[in-house]
Amino acid sequence: MLPAGEVRIVPSILAADFGTLALDAGEVAMATDWLHVDIMDGHFVPNISIGPPVVASLRRHSGAFFDCHLMISEPQRYLEAFRRAGASSATVHVEVGGTAKLIEQMRSLSLGVGLACNPDTPFEAVEPFLDRIDLLLVMTVFPGFGGQTFMTEVVPKISAARQAVDRLGLSVAIEVDGGIDMETIGLAADAGARLFVAGSAIFGDERPWEAVERLRALAVGALDRRG
Ligand code: DX5
Ligand code: ZN
Repeated sequence: MLPAGEVRIVPSILAADFGTLALDAGEVAMATDWLHVDIMDGHFVPNISIGPPVVASLRRHSGAFFDCHLMISEPQRYLEAFRRAGASSATVHVEVGGTAKLIEQMRSLSLGVGLACNPDTPFEAVEPFLDRIDLLLVMTVFPGFGGQTFMTEVVPKISAARQAVDRLGLSVAIEVDGGIDMETIGLAADAGARLFVAGSAIFGDERPWEAVERLRALAVGALDRRG
């Protein structure tokens, strides 16, 4: 899916203007080739966002890698629809259960396979699946809303994930999502994340593509210092 060590900034369209989604996606296209698409069902999380029809519409205007974060209780019912709509990868939450089966389903649909864990879910819950996934999403806020504050207490879990992935010699990409901005991205990079989802820090900026570049420079800088 991508070299696991590569730094990538992943703009979350949750913070874009849904009325001008294709234009907003275009604003960051020159700075990054990934987009984070937040899907919420009003059940797994207390908010509702978008479904397959909007993903399909956006796909007609964007060639980006669609990193679809499924904050939904019954992903098995919708994975195929998201694939058909143009999802590149799907990330399901370990908290919904049935993880082994969901991973098989995603593989059989040729989706990139992502697994997410909430801030209060221990690393041990995702560890058994590391050898079967492409992407591990460590949530740094409780999912449901953009614009929340990065939870520093999750940093040890990012480090634990990095250590496990390296120890096992796996190429799982470690992604963080929630409260990533110019202040916090270095901390997450230092702990071992390589994919950085950011909504408000990018689309809240007057020049979103420049925000992407600044975030990337900060993440790369933190990694360089780490050596
Ligand atoms: C939260 C979503 C995030 C959100 C991040 O439930 O999963 O992707 O858009 O937004 P910021 O970067 O504003 O915290
Ligand atoms: Zn997300």
